[in-house]
Amino acid sequence: MSNPTHTKPEVLVTRRLPQAVEDRLQRDYRPRLNARDEVYTSEQLIELAADAAAIIPCHTEQLNAEVIARLPDSVRAICSFSVGYDHIDLDAARARGIIVTNTPDVLSNATAEVAMLLLLGAARRAHENARMLRTNNWRDWSAVEQLGIEVTGKRLGIIGMGRVGRVMARRARGFDMEIHYFGRRRLDPETERGAIYHADLREMLALSQFLSIHCPATPETRYLINAERIALLPDDAVVVNTSRGAVVDDDALIAALTSGKLFAAGLDVFNGEPDIDPRYRELDNAFLLPHIGSAARETRDAMGFRALDNLDAVMAGREPRDRLA
Ligand code: DGY
Repeated sequence: MSNPTHTKPEVLVTRRLPQAVEDRLQRDYRPRLNARDEVYTSEQLIELAADAAAIIPCHTEQLNAEVIARLPDSVRAICSFSVGYDHIDLDAARARGIIVTNTPDVLSNATAEVAMLLLLGAARRAHENARMLRTNNWRDWSAVEQLGIEVTGKRLGIIGMGRVGRVMARRARGFDMEIHYFGRRRLDPETERGAIYHADLREMLALSQFLSIHCPATPETRYLINAERIALLPDDAVVVNTSRGAVVDDDALIAALTSGKLFAAGLDVFNGEPDIDPRYRELDNAFLLPHIGSAARETRDAMGFRALDNLDAVMAGREPRDRLA
């Protein structure tokens, strides 16, 4: 697609995006880019959206009902640069006739890689051991210190066997893990590939030596991992979260990491990002990453191009591939 400049629609892009993505935006649209990559307040976002035909937000902007109600009438589409869409009120968008899209598929591999990194890092105490080395506190090799727990052959419970959950299962099979999963519905046997379905989360938790969370954040999954459910996990379990912080009750997880009920946790997502609960920083058995699940070069380009494909479709009057509302 290539519009003459005067007919190019204006597009508000809320965060800095990869260069190739911004180049394509410059070619096909009149983008309002955010060179300083500041996170806009809701007021700024509404103001900057004046006359824009579309908005490309990230998960860092809250497009809640109030913000959507106040967007200018010019806005026809919100094409999010994210697979998650808990930051967008879809009902409010529908009510205003605004099309909403996301970027599924293209970040499944990258996110599962980080889930695996967290799982391995938490189990083998990567953060503590690396810090010991870097702070010059490594006394010597020891047969009894720095011990983690072996991953190979253990049982992995996956909450949410969607795109990322299924890639995670594939990667975990490489470590001979026994895969269990909980979700709204059972997959067909070909997709399941031997994974064991549990319609009852409690039943799956009771046997999950490792637990990896891949469900979206919705009102139903808010604090799904709470004190009562953590208590069902086997002692010394490891919990990994690459989905959204809202799925986990921080008080409950921190208590279980502090008491030693859980061996460790590997977390890439948090409530209140970037201001995470400070107690996590004090916990040696919390392996923490700053929401980098999709932060790989190829992935971020692919997310941007997918968002732009959706935008192109809406602007051309076609049905976008990843329509949510
Ligand atoms: C997503 O795409 O939802 C990732 O969490 C990054 O926003």
